[in-house]
Amino acid sequence: MRIDTIDGEHRVMTGMVLDMMKAGDVVTRIDVLRALHDYADEHFCGEETLIEYHGLPGLDIQREQHRKFRAILVSYIDQVQAGERLSVAGIRQFILSWWINHINDVDAVSFAPSALAATVFLSADSWEDYAPFIRATGIDQIDADHRSISNLIIRMKEMLHQEASKEEAVALFDEILAFARSHFKYEEAILADSGAPLGKLHMDSHAHFLVMVENFRGDILFDRLSLSENIRKRLLEWWANHINQFDYDAFGCQELTS
Ligand SMILES: [Fe+2]
Ligand SMILES: [Fe+2]
Ligand SMILES: [Fe+2]
Repeated sequence: MRIDTIDGEHRVMTGMVLDMMKAGDVVTRIDVLRALHDYADEHFCGEETLIEYHGLPGLDIQREQHRKFRAILVSYIDQVQAGERLSVAGIRQFILSWWINHINDVDAVSFAPSALAATVFLSADSWEDYAPFIRATGIDQIDADHRSISNLIIRMKEMLHQEASKEEAVALFDEILAFARSHFKYEEAILADSGAPLGKLHMDSHAHFLVMVENFRGDILFDRLSLSENIRKRLLEWWANHINQFDYDAFGCQELTS
C-alpha cells in the first residue's frame, strides 16, 4: 500500500500465519489463533478508522470482509476448543489467500493514489492528517525536512481561509522553494556518493518539483492564477508520491555512513 503502518501490520500477520506451520500439522495452540484474531481485529479497526476519518472509498466492503474474516477465525477457535483436529495447512491456505485477495482488491481501492488525492491531499489540515500516508526513510534529517516542507504546503489552507494577499502567497512559495532546494541538495549529495542506480531519475523528479513550484509562484505573481485548494493538493500529492517512491527506495532501510 506504501503506507508504513498498514504495510507493517500486513507483514506481521503474514508472519504469524507462516509461523503456525512450525507448530505441526494439526492446530493445537488456541492461543496462536486467538493472537492472530486479536491482531487482525486491531489492524482492521485502525484501517476502518483511517478510511472513515478521511472519507476514503470502500468502507462498507472493508467492514463486511473484516467481519467475515474475524468470524471465520472465531469458528476455527470454537472448533479446536470442541476437540476437532483442524489441519494447519488448510487454515494457512485460507488465511493467506483471503489476505492476498483482500489487500489487492479491497485495500488497494481504499488506499489508491487517486483516492488519497481526492480526500487526504485535498483536505489535510495538519501534519497528523498527512503523516500516515508518508513513509519514513529512517534518516532523521530527511524525515524532519519532509515534515517541515509538508507543513509549509499544508499552511496554504489557512492562507486560503484568511484570504491572504498575493504577496503573502508568493512569500510562502519562496519559502517552499528555498527549503526544497536545500533539502534536494542534501539528498543529491547522498545519491551521488552512493551511486544509486535510479539517482538520475530521482534528481529529475526534484527538478520537476522546483519547476512546478516556480511556475505556480510566477502565475500568482503575475495574476494568472490565485492560490487554490487544487494547487495545494497537487503539491501534497507530488510530495507524497516522491517520498514514498523515490526517497523511500533510495534512503529507506539503508545503513548510511555519511
Ligand atoms: Fe482491509
Ligand atoms: Fe525528500
Ligand atoms: Fe528526493
